[in-house]
Amino acid sequence: MLTQLLVLVILAISANAADHDMYHNCSRVDVCSQNRELERQERYQIILEGAVFSQGVASFRVQTTDGSENLGLNITAIEGNIFRVQIEETESSRYHIQDVLDGEPTVVNFDDVQLSLTSAEIFLGDKRAVVNVSPFSVEFYANDVLTLVIEGDRLTLENEELRHPFTVGVSFPQALHLYGLHEHADHLALRTTAPGGDDPYRIKTMDLTYFELFSTMAMYGAVPVLYGHGINATSGLFLHNAAEQWVEITNKDIGADAFFMVDSGALDIFIFLGPSTTDVVRQYTSLTGVAHLPPIWSLGYHQCRWGYADQQDVQTVIADLDTYDFPVDAIWLDIQHTQDMKFFTWNSENFSDPFDMLANLSSTHRYLVTLSDPHFKVEEGYFVYDEATANDYFIKNLDGTNYEDQCWPGTSSWMDYLNPAARDYYSSLYLYENWNGTTPTLGGIWNDMNEAAIFNEEIEKTFPYDVVHYGGVSNRDIHNMYGYLQTMATHKGLIDRDNGTLRPFILTRAHFSGSQRYAAFWTGDNTAEFGFVTISYSMCLNANLLGLVFCGNDVGGFFGDPSDELLQRFYQAGAWLPFFREHASQESERREPYLFSEEVQATIREAIKTRYAHLPVWYTLFYEHTRFGDPVIRPLFYHYPNDVELLEVDDQLLLGRNILVKAIGESEVTSVPIYFPGGEDEIWFSAQLDGTTFPGTGWTDIPVTIERIPVYYRLGSIIPTKQTSRPSTTDMRNDGYTLTVLLRNNDTAQGTVYNDDNLSFEYRDSQKYSYSDLFGTEEQVVISPIDESDNEEFLIVVDNIVVLTYNDDGTVVKNSYKHDVNGVPINQMKYEGKEPLVIILR
Ligand code: NOJ
Repeated sequence: MLTQLLVLVILAISANAADHDMYHNCSRVDVCSQNRELERQERYQIILEGAVFSQGVASFRVQTTDGSENLGLNITAIEGNIFRVQIEETESSRYHIQDVLDGEPTVVNFDDVQLSLTSAEIFLGDKRAVVNVSPFSVEFYANDVLTLVIEGDRLTLENEELRHPFTVGVSFPQALHLYGLHEHADHLALRTTAPGGDDPYRIKTMDLTYFELFSTMAMYGAVPVLYGHGINATSGLFLHNAAEQWVEITNKDIGADAFFMVDSGALDIFIFLGPSTTDVVRQYTSLTGVAHLPPIWSLGYHQCRWGYADQQDVQTVIADLDTYDFPVDAIWLDIQHTQDMKFFTWNSENFSDPFDMLANLSSTHRYLVTLSDPHFKVEEGYFVYDEATANDYFIKNLDGTNYEDQCWPGTSSWMDYLNPAARDYYSSLYLYENWNGTTPTLGGIWNDMNEAAIFNEEIEKTFPYDVVHYGGVSNRDIHNMYGYLQTMATHKGLIDRDNGTLRPFILTRAHFSGSQRYAAFWTGDNTAEFGFVTISYSMCLNANLLGLVFCGNDVGGFFGDPSDELLQRFYQAGAWLPFFREHASQESERREPYLFSEEVQATIREAIKTRYAHLPVWYTLFYEHTRFGDPVIRPLFYHYPNDVELLEVDDQLLLGRNILVKAIGESEVTSVPIYFPGGEDEIWFSAQLDGTTFPGTGWTDIPVTIERIPVYYRLGSIIPTKQTSRPSTTDMRNDGYTLTVLLRNNDTAQGTVYNDDNLSFEYRDSQKYSYSDLFGTEEQVVISPIDESDNEEFLIVVDNIVVLTYNDDGTVVKNSYKHDVNGVPINQMKYEGKEPLVIILR
């Protein structure tokens, strides 16, 4: 009986586990198994003689210790405290990826070079690179602190006929923790991996079905960026390479090592010398770009399901959400909208009148998003298949025939997005005239299955490396950027479709460094279990540090059916992630929020409405991201870098600088521990504005109910919100703002607020926006323009000011002002955008 029970329990657990036979571990992948236990040993040395230092580039010869092979080492200085290190054979056929950087990096001259017999020192402001001859290493210093070392003793470069593997060790002598190496369902702080224990972190875009928590297995995204955060210095690197990689991590008491084992391609590493985490993030985004502002509707709530199977369903779901008072901005269609899974077609029976469906949605101010995968049904007569075949736009086998395998439509071929002509062709499919039955109400596109996913377990459900891309490039060399290239083409397609006037919204599953320029992403097929609520925070926080700001998860869990409690916790946590969408597999029960009891509905409604109320905060932060490259959501250590206690806190996030949120990923809790950062003087006000406050003195147990998760505003901040509940963001367009001012007696508070037309690129191309500073005391609130923009149309109107004052005895006084001292309604006070508007409160 006991054994039977045990078997049942094991089955129940493993029903939702990744297939470890199908997905390879380190021992089954050459580049990992052959190198993982590589001995440290001197294999190369630098030849200083003949080194050339010219216009920001230092070039050295490198020789194997036995003199048998020649390589070159280039160190380039790049604007903004960045160095680039490239090591390559003199006779090299390594592949160099294109189109990932956001333009060519700006090379700057060195400030000085000093040579000795044993080293070359290259100076760049207060940063320095030191090339040591023997043992070979390149050391990087920020303000005289040694912060990152490229170690020569685990450097290997090999040339095989079809692959060019290399390994390289990197150490971060100052780091207390390493972050990055996206994408994994793991804690934010990277764990020690070691032979005998966990596999190294694998970086390869894969359709990881039933992904597991706290795993180093490869997932849908691949961002080979690693940051070492320390009290004295934070530094980072970006390995500009799209081949499969495995990274072994060794954390020490102080300092950490990373050992990269890379299957092919170029050894091309950008080094970020910080010195702060903010600097490192900005250095990385200066290279790979920032997201443009999303259309505001995409920051609202999205209703999705693999299973909205006809146009009537679409209409009914939206109508029911309205009836039950759930704000929503978009409804999504999965694969079923197509005719026989042929993308860029509509199912003639169930979506017989897409124009009517779109017009109907548009009349309710809602948008449609549909799925568009990179595989195409092999069927003569299907126009995309015919045209792509005729023009040679599909990925090839070694013998030159089209590569074919199984996916949703049955036998399929995959568009070769490495080919610029194929990309252009694919972009053109999104034009209104080419995709019949579309209008601007089809506001967004969902690029799914683009790792690419293939229904063939023999090849780990993704491309085999011997498929060939444009120009004879092996998939091995570009595997991790395939999905990225698809979103690049989709983005262009949507831009062209609307003549460059509207900001595209794209959701992608696969992603790579730089994907932020084109698309939002989500964490893929999660499971309706509590642990998946909190893992979404660590995954999206990690992504936000790597430029990928527009991140979310499947609210509710893709696989399975959440309990009422779990569903509520998913909504509450998801409402504070940048991308907020409920989604479920076709196997799951229907779970639109109005299907639940009134109590459950009330909780979900509050979560969604809280999201809508805070849209001014989200929109302002997204704008600030476009301008400075900063993350939208941030781990606590980002703003409190010296507090070592919180380096591992990853189920709490900061929305910008001022809002602290804790996800609840456990069942039936009545209290949760929350880390309040910042010290005695950093006071955190409950966002319920009920006068509860906590000082930033670390862990505190906070009582919780099912009604909401803990959210706090920071003392000294001004939070702009819109408090009138409306069905959609479009309906909120002309609403006034509430400014919540969090003050200490006799002190000041500050914030920013951004506004524009919500949809177009005029903010970027014609400076049509308003970006204002908010300054508050107990006596007055001042709104002033931050810079010269063409802002008259977008000036903010304030209709309520709520001031919470924290007194030294811990009490809080709350005042609400709709009129100034003279009784003038504050929403009638005109902020011209040229001079500050002073609102006198008392
Ligand atoms: C896989 C995606 O991850 C999931 O969200 C989607 O519903 C299915 N593909 C079907 O298209």
